[in-house]
Amino acid sequence: MLTAHRMQALPPYIFAKIDQEVRALERQGRSVIDLGISDPNQPPRNSVTRALSEASTTPASHRYPPIRGAEALRRQIADWYRRRFQVDLDPDREVLVTLGSKEALVHLSLAVVDRDGVVLVPDPGYPAYFMPHALFGFDQATVPLTRRHGFLPVVSTVHAGDLERAQLMYVNYPNNPTGAVASREFWNDLVREARRWDFVICSDLAYADLIYEGRAVSVLEIPEARAVSVESITFSKSYNMQGFRLAAMVGSEEILDALWRVESQINSGVYSAIQSAGVRAMLDGPDPEVLESYRERRQLLGQGLAELGLEFEWPRGAVYFWVKIPSGWPESETYAKRLLQEAGVAVTPGTAFGPSGADYIRVSYTRPLNDLTQALRKWKILSQHTALDRK
Ligand SMILES: Cc1ncc(COP(=O)(O)O)c(C=O)c1O
Repeated sequence: MLTAHRMQALPPYIFAKIDQEVRALERQGRSVIDLGISDPNQPPRNSVTRALSEASTTPASHRYPPIRGAEALRRQIADWYRRRFQVDLDPDREVLVTLGSKEALVHLSLAVVDRDGVVLVPDPGYPAYFMPHALFGFDQATVPLTRRHGFLPVVSTVHAGDLERAQLMYVNYPNNPTGAVASREFWNDLVREARRWDFVICSDLAYADLIYEGRAVSVLEIPEARAVSVESITFSKSYNMQGFRLAAMVGSEEILDALWRVESQINSGVYSAIQSAGVRAMLDGPDPEVLESYRERRQLLGQGLAELGLEFEWPRGAVYFWVKIPSGWPESETYAKRLLQEAGVAVTPGTAFGPSGADYIRVSYTRPLNDLTQALRKWKILSQHTALDRK
């Protein structure tokens, strides 16, 4: 065997797997509507692509970029935090530009977790949070997100032995996959727990701008958070720049310095022209039409899912419905598979986000209204199944 033992335990990246199944059906001439992946279908603003193309012709753009990120972008990010959250960041010491947020979220564990440390991961949670365990072998303890607690993690439910060894906790609001949003009081309490048990909070603020009720709160709004927290922001969702691979981690200088040391051994920064496009994106802000389109999609999809008799909470943020599978179905993977094969609608089985997802599927609304209408029409086939057909 030429591959490492850990590869046997490493699940295939679920969205790549769904994509393969979708392509296989399409090769058979079937049309599939993909509500599985969260790949925003709308383009970035013209001003952003123009900034990219102009910056790419400047002589310096082909050089290695500074690993901490271009100064202009770090300043822009600090300005955004001041405007948006009244949080002051030092752009030289408290902002680190990263190659998209996914890699930085995973690499952060190398910077803050020891061999005998524990990573606290939300269940359900974005699959990258499970990678420090799967790839680097760190112990992990799951923190359940239950409907009863508004899909917020309750630290006191974690075993004290795990909390004593905990060195990092991933937290994500607005939340993928549940659509929950966290209040300032929640962050206040969590920061207190982090200080008590001495672990780092990594707040993943990927959906900062995709919010329908309430507001997105930055962990750094809590005065005591700076010493124990970092926060990840990305250009993927707010600005439809997911192909650019541009994000940043901000917060504790000590933690960011450690992450920078890890990153500088593995990556060599983000292409300068992309960083210039990022400056433009932040100056122009998210496109209000794009935000409005998400509201419309959420409304249409939510109404349609309710008419199908499915059970869910309306998402307050992000771009997903976290939907309970109807009773009589054995678990989410079977339901998702049958929905794909019989109706031609791809959704993500909840188990992709952790064991607690066994009774759920995630339905994403990053597709246009037309696709959502068609998907809901096709979906009816499955709701007509009798109990016997559901096995
Ligand atoms: C919660 C969350 N964090 C991070 C990411 C990754 O974003 P990026 O494109 O910056 O790697 C995603 C992508 O779907 C996400 O849902």
